Amino acid sequence: MAWKIKVGKKLPGPKSARILEKMKKLDGGYGMPFPLVMSKQGEGAYLKDLDGNVFLDFASHIASSPLGYNHPEMRIVTEDICRSVYPLKVAAPDYVIKEHLDLLEELLTITPKGMDAAFFINSGAEAVENAMKICYKKEKKAKVGIGFEGAFHGRTLGALSLTNSKKIYSQDFPMLPMFRLPFTDKASDVLERIVLEEVDASNIAFVMMEPIQGEGGYNIPSKQMVQGIRRITKRNRIPLIMDEVQAGMGRTGKWWAHEHFDIKPDVMTAAKALQVGATIASKSMFPNQPGVISSTWGGGQLVDLVAGLQTIKIIKKEKLLQHNEKMGAYIKKVLEDMQTRHPEITNIRGIDLKMAFDMPSKDARDKLVAESVRRGLLILGAGKQGVRLIPPYIITEEDANAAMRVIEESLVQIWEHPKRITRAERYSEVSV
Ligand SMILES: Cc1ncc(COP(=O)(O)O)c(C=O)c1O
Repeated sequence: MAWKIKVGKKLPGPKSARILEKMKKLDGGYGMPFPLVMSKQGEGAYLKDLDGNVFLDFASHIASSPLGYNHPEMRIVTEDICRSVYPLKVAAPDYVIKEHLDLLEELLTITPKGMDAAFFINSGAEAVENAMKICYKKEKKAKVGIGFEGAFHGRTLGALSLTNSKKIYSQDFPMLPMFRLPFTDKASDVLERIVLEEVDASNIAFVMMEPIQGEGGYNIPSKQMVQGIRRITKRNRIPLIMDEVQAGMGRTGKWWAHEHFDIKPDVMTAAKALQVGATIASKSMFPNQPGVISSTWGGGQLVDLVAGLQTIKIIKKEKLLQHNEKMGAYIKKVLEDMQTRHPEITNIRGIDLKMAFDMPSKDARDKLVAESVRRGLLILGAGKQGVRLIPPYIITEEDANAAMRVIEESLVQIWEHPKRITRAERYSEVSV
């Protein structure tokens, strides 16, 4: 039987509320989670919580669950690996497992030509750290990095030097030497001026950019901007790192979002949908001294490795890149139609299943997100007043219609019967 949204009057439900209350006390990194605690049940794009509420998930664990819930071919491999005699996390730098090689080989079938090596690590931020490290190491003299205004690259200290989407992330922490470019068509002029007037190109270790800004607001650069950055970095022999942690792995209908701009970076990062962090480049970009980049569990996260491998295989087998393109176009059309009735939604943007629109203010955005969640649709904010839609790749037209219905009902509700939302309902404030 097809799953449908079903939520009780009060969220979180009592079982979820008890756990969330305890989490709030005990978890040092407690943020603003959705008002639910997941049960072990779900199907497609739907998840059930401990209280029996059923939510439609258009947030996809912040773009990290492309296959949604209970994909049968994913369950088979993860259940199987859990029965192995290996420890669940292997110290991969010392104990090699074949699953590590299997994912390397499969990943490298989808990376751009010339990117023939990858290093697995625990998270997106660590993939970013290691991308930075291999660039610093390559040009030993170069100590300056260049990033973008509004960027998000993670919260570990090195990545944080590049993260600029919200002040709160980096306030009070020390920074690596860094310049920032605007995420606009002026970027290449500013980069050119920095190279001419501020710091010699030989001192610049890398330029890092997201092909589509995520946390910063789902901002899509122009082809001219991306190609301009590539041209200047190439001319000055500065490595260009594309952070594909959120945009990559097929969400935009191509394996890597930078492919939409007809350029090739020198280094790339992936994580989220890949299920494991990865720094990807040509083998010659990586340091050839053992131990310079390494981590006990990097490349040894058993479930992550098999889940990543299976994710790529399923995306290929089920032709999900084409499906994402089709579903993205469909959702955009429905949103544009909705806009004729609700002109308060503006700036509908995105590529395929990485989509967003703006509300007139941050408060209106937060209210729309809160109201949609109350009605059983999980969505997130992006940037100052954006709402992002990042459903799993397996959604159907019915799922898209159900989600759009909730958004429209929520728009009507917040406009016609405005009510206050609690601080805990401002989920949009702490996402990535
Ligand atoms: C573009 C980008 N880079 C890096 C990261 C950091 O990844 P993680 O949260 O796995 O450390 C994120 C997380 O959202 C991201 O969107």
